[in-house]
Amino acid sequence: MSKSVGPANNFESLLKETRVFKPAKEFAAKAHIKSFAQYQRMWTESVKQPEKFWAKQATQELVWFKPFTKVFQWKEPNAKWFTGGKLNVSSNCLDRWLDTDLANKAALIWEGEPATDGKPGEERVLTFKQLHREVCRFANVLKRNGIQKGDRVIIYLPMVPEAAIAMLACTRVGAVHSVIFGGFSAQSVADRIQDSGAKMVITADGGYRRGAVVPLKKNVDEALRITDAKGVSLTQTIQKVVVLRRTWNEIHIEEGRDVWWHRELEYVSSHCPAEKLDSEAPLFILYTSGSTGKPKGILHTTAGYLLGAKMTSKYVFDLRPEDVYWCTADVGWVTGHSYIVYGPLANGTTCVMYEGAPNWPEPDRFWRIIAKYGVTVLYTAPTAIRAFMKWGEEWPNKHDLSSLRVLGTVGEPINPEAWMWYHRVIGGGRCPIVDTWWQTETGSIMITPLPGATPLKPGTATLPFFGILPEVVDDAGKAVPRNTGGKLVIRKPWPSMLRGIWGDPERFKATYWSEVKGSYFTGDGCRQDKDGYFWIVGRIDDVLNVAGHRIGTAEVESALVSHPSVAEAAVVGRPDELKGQALVCFVTLKTGQAATHELKAELRNHVGKEIGPVAKPDDVRFADALPKTRSGKIMRRLLKQVASGMEIKGDTTTLEDLSVLAQLATAED
Ligand code: PRX
Repeated sequence: MSKSVGPANNFESLLKETRVFKPAKEFAAKAHIKSFAQYQRMWTESVKQPEKFWAKQATQELVWFKPFTKVFQWKEPNAKWFTGGKLNVSSNCLDRWLDTDLANKAALIWEGEPATDGKPGEERVLTFKQLHREVCRFANVLKRNGIQKGDRVIIYLPMVPEAAIAMLACTRVGAVHSVIFGGFSAQSVADRIQDSGAKMVITADGGYRRGAVVPLKKNVDEALRITDAKGVSLTQTIQKVVVLRRTWNEIHIEEGRDVWWHRELEYVSSHCPAEKLDSEAPLFILYTSGSTGKPKGILHTTAGYLLGAKMTSKYVFDLRPEDVYWCTADVGWVTGHSYIVYGPLANGTTCVMYEGAPNWPEPDRFWRIIAKYGVTVLYTAPTAIRAFMKWGEEWPNKHDLSSLRVLGTVGEPINPEAWMWYHRVIGGGRCPIVDTWWQTETGSIMITPLPGATPLKPGTATLPFFGILPEVVDDAGKAVPRNTGGKLVIRKPWPSMLRGIWGDPERFKATYWSEVKGSYFTGDGCRQDKDGYFWIVGRIDDVLNVAGHRIGTAEVESALVSHPSVAEAAVVGRPDELKGQALVCFVTLKTGQAATHELKAELRNHVGKEIGPVAKPDDVRFADALPKTRSGKIMRRLLKQVASGMEIKGDTTTLEDLSVLAQLATAED
C-alpha cells in the first residue's frame, strides 16, 4: 500500500486498495441491471435529463390516485416533487398487491427473541392480505382516537410486527409518524414529543432485550411527567397513549388517556380506504443526533421518499419475487424505515424482521435465522460484521448459508478486512456485497454498487445511484482532482431528499445548504479513486490534522482492523502541542488475544507500515468494548473526551454500556 499526497488544505488519503471483484456472469444474466455499460448508460441519462428520468420512474413504479402535473420545483433549499399528484404510501405497499399473485405471499416473517432457556423465539407470518387487514384495523383505531391527517404520532415500540403496522396505519390516514428507538430514555422521548408536538404515543408494556424486559410504557409515563424549568409540561400535546401488550409486565393505565391496542381493535372494522394525499404531504419525522446540540427532526414527504426507497430496494438488492430479504436494522432508524418497511413492501418482497440481539442466547442467531427461513438477501452493518469476526468463524460455519445471494452493509465505512471476511465466511465467496452510502437525510441509498453490474472493491461504496450526482470538493466548493480528499456534496436535488428540519428552517439551511454554494453538503469526507469510485473517510469532523497532514480516522481504523489480532478499532484526535493533533487508538482484540505492550508496539508499526509513518498512532489503548450508540455507531465525542483525559460531558443516554468508558479511561499506562 502506498501513499498519495494531496494539497495542504485537503486531507490526504493514504490507504490504497487494489482488489477488484467483478460480478459473476450467471448473476449478471438474471439481474435487473446486467452490465456496467447498462448502468453507465442509465446513470448518464438520469443526470442529463433528471426530470424526464424521474417522471418516468414515478409513473412506472408508484400507484397514483391522481397523476402529478409537475415533476420538480426548486427554490433553494426547498424542493417539491411530483406536485399535483395524489397517492398513499400504505396502498402502494399493500393494496396494490391484493389483486395479484402476491396477495397470499408472506410480507413479514417475524422471529421473536428466543426465550431465556435458549428455546427458539416465537414466529409470526403476515401475508400481504393479512398485513393489509391489520393496517386498516389499526388505522381505524387511530381515527377513533382522534388522529387526523397531518397530526404527529410517536411510535415507541419493540421490533414487533405492530411497529410496521403502526407506521403503515399512520401513512394510511395521513398522520406523520416519528419512530423513537426503544433504547431511548424517557427524557429523549419527552424532547421528541415536545419538538414534534405529537398528539399520540403508541408504545408497549415492555420489550425484550437479551432476556430482560425494557419498560417502555414506564418510560412513556415518566416522559409525560417531565416539565421544563418553569414547571410547564414538555408533552402537553399528548392526548392518547395506545399500549400494545407484549411482555405482560404490570403497568399503570391512566384512565381517559391510555388505551390497550387489543381492546381498541374490538371496536373497529377492517375497512379503511386510504387517504388520497398530496405528493408533498409530510410522511415522517425521524430524529437524528447532530454531533452537538439538540436532535434534528428530519422531515420526509410522501411521493419522493417512496420512489427513492422503492427504486433503490429493487436495484441495489436486485430484488426478485422469490427473495426472502432480511435487513437487520431496527425500525427506529432510517434503515428500518426505508429497507424493512417501505422499500421492500412497495416491491412486494418478503421481509424477515427479528426482535432480538445477534448474540442472544448464542452468537449464531443471525446464521440460524438465515438457515431457518432460507434468507437470500442480508443487509446489515459493519459494526455487526466486526463483532461476528471477533466471535469467530465457527458460529456461521455451523449453519447452511447457501441460500444467500446478495449481502449489503450500511452505516459507516466498512474496513476492507471486514469486507473480505463478510465475502468469504458469510457469502461463501459467491455473493456480491453492496456497500451502501446514504443518510437519514437522503431518505434512500445514494452511492452503491449494483450487484449485477458494478465491479467491487472492498471498502468503497463505489458509484452513484441513478439520478444522483455526488462530487468531492474543496473548501471553495470546487471539484478536487482524483485521489484527493475533500467534502462530499450532492450537486442536484433528488426525490427522497429531506424537505427540512421540523420547525427549524434556519438550521436546515445552515447545516446542509450553506457550506458549499448550490449543493447539498453531506458532512462526510471523501475521495474518488482513479476509477471514480467514492471512498467515504468518515465525517468531516472526524478528519484529523496530524503534523500538517489531514488524515481520515476511518483509514487508520481499517489499517488496525487488518491486523490479525484486532477485532475493532476507533481512532480519535487528542490536542498535541507539537503535532496539532495526536492519534489515539482504542482497540478491542479478537477472542483469545492478549493485550500486551509488545502488541501495542506491533500495532503502531503495523499502521505505520500500512499507511505511512504520519499515521503511526501516538497511543493505543485496549478495551473489551467500545462506547456505541444503540444503533452501533461509535461515540467519538466520548472517546475524544477520554483521549484528552477530560471529564465525560454531554448526553450519554444513547450509550449501550457505560462501564466501557471507565475501562477506557484507565486503560492508559
Ligand atoms: O458518515 C456516513 C455514514 O453514516 C452517516 C449517516 O448516518 P445516519 O443518518 O445515521 O444513517 C445511517 C444509515 C443510512 C453518513 O453521513 N455512512 C452510512 N453509510 C455508509 C457510511 N459511511 C461509509 N460507508 C457507508 N456505506
